[in-house]
Parts: sequence; structure tokens; C-alpha cells
Amino acid sequence: MTETLDIKITKTTHSRLAETDFDNLPFGKTFSDHMFVADYADGEWKNLQVIPYGEIGLSPAISALHYGQAFFEGLKAYKHADGKVTIFRPDKNAIRFNKSAERLCMPQLPEEIFLQSMAAVVDIDRDWVPSKDNHALYIRPFMFATDPYLGVTPSATYKYMVIAGPVGPYFSKTLRVKIETHYTRAAEGGMGFAKAAGNYGSSMLPARKATEEGFDQLIWTDAKEHKYIEEMGAANAMFVLDGTLVTAEAKDTILDGVTRDTVIALAKEWGIPVETRKVSVAEIIEGAKNGKLTDAFGAGTAATIASVGSISLDGEEYFLNDPKTREFSQKVLKTLDAIKYGNAADTHGWNYLVG
Ligand SMILES: Cc1ncc(COP(=O)(O)O)c(C=O)c1O
Repeated sequence: MTETLDIKITKTTHSRLAETDFDNLPFGKTFSDHMFVADYADGEWKNLQVIPYGEIGLSPAISALHYGQAFFEGLKAYKHADGKVTIFRPDKNAIRFNKSAERLCMPQLPEEIFLQSMAAVVDIDRDWVPSKDNHALYIRPFMFATDPYLGVTPSATYKYMVIAGPVGPYFSKTLRVKIETHYTRAAEGGMGFAKAAGNYGSSMLPARKATEEGFDQLIWTDAKEHKYIEEMGAANAMFVLDGTLVTAEAKDTILDGVTRDTVIALAKEWGIPVETRKVSVAEIIEGAKNGKLTDAFGAGTAATIASVGSISLDGEEYFLNDPKTREFSQKVLKTLDAIKYGNAADTHGWNYLVG
């Protein structure tokens, strides 16, 4: 048994729940009543608190704002038919959280603080977890440097926080994606494997350009040659090519997705061959042309399983089969939903019970 942490709880006196429209939940715009805050100073985490969601005062000199010592995680809590609320595989995010911290020269966060901070927010705000299909409470833990000091050096103080909010599906349609062959998301030796805020900042200009060209997402390629597929926006790119599930190996340029890991585990159980390796743009385009590419999707917590309808390369658009006819991704989606919402046995121990 891990120790139960001493978390001070201050409840809101003005819940916003009644005035929240659960039928209209654009991703990431609605926040629940409470949040978690802890401070790091003198080598330890202290002042563990749940407080009403709201603004926080910060010095304009905090190094997170200037030098980007900031990173985050993204998870979801689901409501089951019997009212239970569970978070999906938070132990995996706890490990990734500390990998990000290490890469950014920031302090480690004990796993019990990560898990219990989220559980505390989700528990107090359990009425904010939507009961509708394809809906969940999105949980955003994050850490940032708070030293009010403009020297380029790791901060000595940090804040760890958790905010949350109800969300519906991130993508409501089949995606039109473009293979990016100019801009780069991450290079070897960089921080692509970390959920660093800076990785997302640098992706915005290329993503905006792609949107202006009518695309929904970018497929990132390797920094050296732009010949190998890495990721798809804020999701891992996965393909079924000639009956094999193929996806890029989770190396230092790629975020090792929890959804990716889950999809791979299910595929292996179902006896489907899995290859995690370099995936060339050429073989994917070839597969799209000759019909051997029978499935293509982005896998992520927010994106869930987001079907790719067409892939464009150098101005040429290659259309794929109808997503509804895709055996693999349809089965993955159904199975994952059944486990997350408690409609199938959680034989892997993926659901973390809150409360
Ligand atoms: C860049 C990137 N890749 C992959 C993923 C998928 O990871 P996960 O399945 O853990 O959510 C995400 C986000 O969630 C992401 O931001």
C-alpha cells in the first residue's frame, strides 16, 4: 500500500456545474470546479492542496515563460454505468511525466503525488465526469519553473498543478492529413519523447499552414531526410499494411503514447503481427496506391482512434478505404471503449479506480 498523502482541500462555494452545457463541449475550454497545486522548493514537494479552479498570481520573470521549463500530461477519467469513475492507465503517464521532467532538468514527482493529485481532483469533481458516449473528463497535470530569475539556468522552484474539464470527441470527422517534408517536430538528441510545452509551440506554425491548405493534421517525418514517418499531430501514427500493424519505434524523437502501447498490446493478443520500426513514407504511399494499406489512424488520449481518410504528399492526395470498413481500427475502438467505460472486463488492470 502506498501512503495516503496529506492533501489540504478547500471547496468552492460557487460551483459552475449547473451553468455548464454538457451538450456543447469544445475541447479544452471548460474546466471543472477544482484544481490541484503543489510547490517544489528546497528539494521537496510541499503545500499539496486542492483549491477552487481559478487564476494564479505569478511573477512575469518566471523562467517557464522565458526558457520553456514546462511540460504536461493528458489523461482521461471515464464514468461507468454503475457510477464508478476510473482513470485510464495513469501509471504509464506517471513514468512519462518523470521522463519529461528529467529531460527538462526539472525535479521528479513521486508517483503517489501524481496519482493522488489527479484522484483528488476527479473525486471532488466527479459530477463533472460526463455520462455520455465518447465523453470523458480530460485531466491535465503539468509542471513549470517558477524562479523569478532571467538567468538561463534550471529553476530551483517549481509548481505542479492538475486541472480538468469535461470533453467530447476531439475529432468529429475522418482526417485529411499531409506528410510534412519541410518542418521538423523533433530531432535525435532533442526532446521529442518529452511532453515539453516547447514541442507544441514549434508545431503551431506548420500546423496552421497545413490547416490553411485544408488539411486536418500533419504527419511528421524524420528531421534528417523527411523519409520516415514519426507522428501525427498530437497522436501516434499507426497503419495496417499487408495485414501487419506498423508504427514508428518509440525512440527519442517520438512521444511514447499510452494509446499506442494499448493498441499494440491488443493487436498482439488478437494474433495480429506488429512491427515497431522505421516506417517509410514511400511504403505508406505505395500501400495507399496498391490497396495494401487497409488501415491508418492516429492514436492518442485526446484523439482516441482518429481515422485517416486521405494522405497527401507533395501536392498529391491518396484516398484510403472507408473507415467504417476497417476491421482493425473499428475493433480497437470498440474494445477500448468497452474497457474504459466499464462495459468489458478490465483484464489488464488498465482502469484506476477513483474514490
Ligand atoms: C505528440 C504526441 N504524440 C502522441 C500522443 C499520444 O499519446 P497518448 O496516447 O499517451 O495520449 C500525444 C498526446 O497525447 C502527443 O501529444
